[in-house]
Amino acid sequence: MSEEQIKSLEADFDARIARDEKIEPKDWMPEKYRKTHIRQISQHAHSEIVGMLPEGNWITRAPSLRRKVALLAKVQDEAGHGLYLYSACETLGVSRDELYEQLHSGKAKYSSIFNYPTLTWADMGAIGWLVDGAAIINQVPLCSTSFGPYARAMVRVCKEESFHQRQGFEIMYKLCNGTPEQKEMAQDALNRWWWPSLMMLGPTDAESVHTEQSMKWKLKRKTNDELRQQFIDQTVPQADILGLKIPDTDLEWNEETGHYDFGEIQWDEFWQVVKGHGPCNKERLNARKDAWEKGAWVRDAAMAYAEKQSNKKIEKVV
Ligand code: 3HC
Repeated sequence: MSEEQIKSLEADFDARIARDEKIEPKDWMPEKYRKTHIRQISQHAHSEIVGMLPEGNWITRAPSLRRKVALLAKVQDEAGHGLYLYSACETLGVSRDELYEQLHSGKAKYSSIFNYPTLTWADMGAIGWLVDGAAIINQVPLCSTSFGPYARAMVRVCKEESFHQRQGFEIMYKLCNGTPEQKEMAQDALNRWWWPSLMMLGPTDAESVHTEQSMKWKLKRKTNDELRQQFIDQTVPQADILGLKIPDTDLEWNEETGHYDFGEIQWDEFWQVVKGHGPCNKERLNARKDAWEKGAWVRDAAMAYAEKQSNKKIEKVV
């Protein structure tokens, strides 16, 4: 294809993005647009699947049937979110096996937040309230992202995330209105999950390598810092309702800006975790690789069954 032809295709593509049109898998798109979507959507999918591990750890230890059922439903939802997102990613010409290989080899990232341990039952509340709360803030704008399959997957995901956030807040509310020891357990969980939840929304806009281009392509509709500020502004009043103290002595409402000012985020910790040196990185990746190896027979059986079914159909037709 000549330089000229490529330039005109790029101009048409940019005009479609400007008109807020959805780009579909079979449409022409710049190779970089395709690649960055494979990067972000696959890492999003990996995050959903790895995100099942910290919570799955507490299903058998939930304090009541109601809590067990809600947590079980949430963890199952996360598996579904991962599958939607892997399917959306495959429309860009990458195979599921390639994506899993990228995760298992450590080539692909998943969200830093899932590399922290879940030490008490209150962590189930803090994850639902804070992590899924941050996820909703991050994912609602993605419902209007320019790539069609990603935007459509996000609509379904966001509906389920709001249940996740609400069941987490309910856990925290019960604990905060329980015994002093239960309230202390909730405060301890907030102390451990607050800052990693802020980091989960990505580095500052100044540090972010992808944000500028992702905003131009309407892959991102809000920047990392905008999402982080929205999360803080929304969550501080919720902590007040719980009677919990946010672990940030610099947190203060700024009448002028209409937002909360907040303290320094420890970005060294963030990058250490992203680079694989967080408290649970090895455990999480080993769990995923172990599940992949132990699940090989299920994949083989499903493929054999599918082949048998399709042979039956061919026999009927012949
Ligand atoms: N954890 C791990 N890596 C992160 C990260 C995080 N929290 N934030 C950023 N990074 C990585 C980026 O992937 C990028 O590395 P790469 O080039 O190797 O991919 C690098 O740090 C620079 O960051 P950028 O801000 O430039 O990267 P992005 O533009 O991709 O922004 C993001 C990061 C905001 C996480 C964006 O990718 C995004 O919005 N992704 C979709 C949402 C998502 O993946 N959420 C993860 C949690 S899933 C979840 O919450 C499940 C729920 O049910 C609990």
